[in-house]
Amino acid sequence: MYHRAVIEPPPPTFEDVRNLLSQNCVICHVEKGPAPFELTQVEDYRKRSSFIGSLIQEDRMPPHLSQKDRWTDLEKSLVLQWLQAISSNDQHKSVPIPDPPKFRSDQTFVTPKGFTIPSEGGERWHQGDRDIRTFRLAPRVEKTLRVQAWRFESTAQREVESVALVHDDGTVARYGDLQEPETPGYEMTGDMGLRPAGFLGVLGIGNPTFRIPTGYHFEIPESHEIDFELRFRPSGLARAFSATLDAELVPQDHLSRALQLVPLSIRSWRANAGESGTIHRIWKSPISMDVPLLSVRAGRRVKDVTLKVDDRVVFQIHDWDPHWQQTWETTNLRVAKNAKLEAIFTVDNSDQNPRNPETPPKDIQFGRRTGALGVWLHAAACEPDETSSLQILRRQMFTALQTDGVMSPEQTTPGQSVLPN
Ligand code: HEC
Repeated sequence: MYHRAVIEPPPPTFEDVRNLLSQNCVICHVEKGPAPFELTQVEDYRKRSSFIGSLIQEDRMPPHLSQKDRWTDLEKSLVLQWLQAISSNDQHKSVPIPDPPKFRSDQTFVTPKGFTIPSEGGERWHQGDRDIRTFRLAPRVEKTLRVQAWRFESTAQREVESVALVHDDGTVARYGDLQEPETPGYEMTGDMGLRPAGFLGVLGIGNPTFRIPTGYHFEIPESHEIDFELRFRPSGLARAFSATLDAELVPQDHLSRALQLVPLSIRSWRANAGESGTIHRIWKSPISMDVPLLSVRAGRRVKDVTLKVDDRVVFQIHDWDPHWQQTWETTNLRVAKNAKLEAIFTVDNSDQNPRNPETPPKDIQFGRRTGALGVWLHAAACEPDETSSLQILRRQMFTALQTDGVMSPEQTTPGQSVLPN
């Protein structure tokens, strides 16, 4: 007798997927996490298996924006196969809750008390930004701080979308406070002059504890304060808001380089109703630099964000959703002197864009002094004596930006290169 063996790989077991689920689902879907319900039991997955399967298939959960953090096809298919046939032996198992990231709190900053996140989103004069509040944190730093990691905790884990940090000597934020003296914080975006909110990183739903790669730090100058732009999403219930920001500092005797911001920004852009296309910012780097982190500023009419160095894609986000914004780690990106950098924003102001807040779409125009669109490199000069060049460079780039016209889809900025003198 001759049998033809059909070799079917056995379906994945719970053991095959538990770490993926633990690290990529439970990390948010846990008691007091940012997600609205828990996914800590196999039963939680079984009950919603086809819905969860479709979210995974469409890359909507886990909600990683950056291409390099997304699940590979292999990981996806492993979990999808497991979901299709969850074994009855596994039904009573639980998915391990990951340990909280290691963190040493060297200094704590607190928000002023008295702000309540409203139950519903507000009407704003500004068509782009609605639910924003900017706060000054106490205390003001006494001596220069070198921050190795941030941790943000608040009473409104589910409402908070992102916290964009920046430092200031107090003059700009104080002016803002004066405009709304009866509540703490003020209803404006949190740029501090030519230092945009996010200058010291953006903490989002996915990275409330955020470690800066070793060898780099964010620096807060002596007698400055930390300010932050809070973006929130009302949940239907008014929620009293208070928050703490903890900083872990670089040990005193460790060598570390301060990160500076190199902004590839588009100051202002417009699109007619129904229009879509790409907007480019091209820039030639006058110095060589390491870029361990980057942040993005973009709104809901942006679909894709790409960064190219010498025509090679080094960072990409498909299907941009501001809800999930944060600061991302690059894979040891080094930019050579005279390298060509290109930030590409694919915008879509049509009704094909499900995030377009306007149906039917309207003609739109956005502008912001530090850029309505931006890819921001958190960079350190390779040559130690060029550290201050980067600071000068940022001011020059932002100053040059102010004379840019309003860009439309299919436009590229001239390949300007500002050299520090
Ligand atoms: C970074 C945090 C985070 C991670 C990681 C995460 N989620 Fe979520 N999830 C959320 C939040 C927050 C929501 C609420 C909806 C929203 O904010 O868009 C949500 C919503 C959901 C929903 C409801 C969606 C809807 O449209 O009603 C499901 C189902 C879900 N997540 C499953 C998962 C699964 C499965 C994983 C792992 C593969 C996962 N999530 C990973 C934060 C996360």
